[in-house]
Amino acid sequence: MSLSILHISDLHYVSDPTRCGAFERVLREMTPPLEKLNAACEKLPKRPDFVAISGDLTHGGGQEEYLTLRNALRRLFKDVPLFITPGNHDDPKSLSETFLGKPYDADGCVYTVQEKDIAFVSFDSSAPGEPDGLIRDKVLEKLDRELSALDGATAILMTHHHLIEDQFDLPAAKNAGRLANLLKRYNVAAILNGHTHHFFNSFFAGIPCLTADSVSFRGENLPDGRVEFYDHFGMNWCEWDCEIGFSCRRITDNRYSKKLDSVIFP
Ligand SMILES: [Fe+2]
Repeated sequence: MSLSILHISDLHYVSDPTRCGAFERVLREMTPPLEKLNAACEKLPKRPDFVAISGDLTHGGGQEEYLTLRNALRRLFKDVPLFITPGNHDDPKSLSETFLGKPYDADGCVYTVQEKDIAFVSFDSSAPGEPDGLIRDKVLEKLDRELSALDGATAILMTHHHLIEDQFDLPAAKNAGRLANLLKRYNVAAILNGHTHHFFNSFFAGIPCLTADSVSFRGENLPDGRVEFYDHFGMNWCEWDCEIGFSCRRITDNRYSKKLDSVIFP
């Protein structure tokens, strides 16, 4: 049994950049994420079996933007299942109602989608007032229950924030240590995440852990405290094979690399 997974992240879709504060020029001048995604998907050798989107679907959008984005992704991927997790820029209530078809869970959303013999499990690392991510105790409890119910079957996990402390100059999600202890008891083939907007490939708790690029922009810290933003595009083509295991190929397009803006954050 094998399965192909297109992993994309951090679209930061926005219909009106003028209400996005310091990010206005970045969001206004970047190549629209859906334009980049459409162009890249046209070149894929085949349609994926599954599309995983690891958060920051919008840059703080409301219900209308989520509906517009959902319709655009549906046109692009047709009947390929979409698997979504919320990011720190998302409105979890609008996201739940439009993409997940579930009522908003204020304690943090954890859910499982079964595809062929693989269980895809999303757990929410976003939390109010925690832009760097927090895996809440209630999320860990729910994740424990979801994984326990799989009874040893293989799972692929997805969350928004990165879990490995040294991988980026932003701190990893809080409570990642407790998550590592929990995951040691289960059969997890891979963990997918986003948030940093920079590709990274390593192991977390001995499990392959893949951070996707963004399909929107990336930031580079400057010595004077500014963050310089660039147009950006990258996504991961992943394969799961029950005999071979998990593999991942990064797809990028260097046409999207123009400098957008430099921003000082207080
Ligand atoms: Fe993001």
